Amino acid sequence: MELREPSEEELSELRERVRPYLSDERYAHTLSVEGECAYMAKILMPEHEHSLRAAALLHDIAKKQTYEKQLNYIRECDILEMEKGKTRIIPAVAHAPAGAAMVTLHFPEYACDDIVSAVRYHTTGHDGMTLFEAIVFLADYIEPTRKYAECRELHDFVHENLSCGGERILRRALIRCIENTLAHIDGEPDDDTVKTLNYLQSGEKMPRTL
Ligand SMILES: [Fe+2]
Repeated sequence: MELREPSEEELSELRERVRPYLSDERYAHTLSVEGECAYMAKILMPEHEHSLRAAALLHDIAKKQTYEKQLNYIRECDILEMEKGKTRIIPAVAHAPAGAAMVTLHFPEYACDDIVSAVRYHTTGHDGMTLFEAIVFLADYIEPTRKYAECRELHDFVHENLSCGGERILRRALIRCIENTLAHIDGEPDDDTVKTLNYLQSGEKMPRTL
């Protein structure tokens, strides 16, 4: 399905539709991610600001589900087929592929490839990640309701530099975000997280969308 820009009215309606899927705290986080996506989109991707905001509103819709239910959603939508040989799904990141499945099932009018993939990869990124996906990924980390010092610092770095430095700043922020994440992980990191870091450090040009 082609990437489509929802209207302001549709975004207002979507804000209400996602609410039952989220705790109060998670809803506040979601609205804050939407705000960060809008901020970065205005600088980097103005033509897709509304679809980026929709992806932000949908990114955590599986967060309230149990791990079992998340796996059921993933199985139901064959998201594992997209994983190209992956043999495990770490519980901490399962809400991302489950969320992608839930978008397909419960929000089909938003289930274009770019939004589904942005939800799917918002916790790990992936090799060849697009600018669209990268904006959602970074917005999730730097949104201002997060209180960790690393998130606050990266938020300020992005807001001070993005309008002058553009994609170069986005890439630096993403690399720092993933390095911070890897430094705090207990046990083995998800394969995609490591691949994303290598991809970003290689300097390969990011496609804008899928
Ligand atoms: Fe999130």
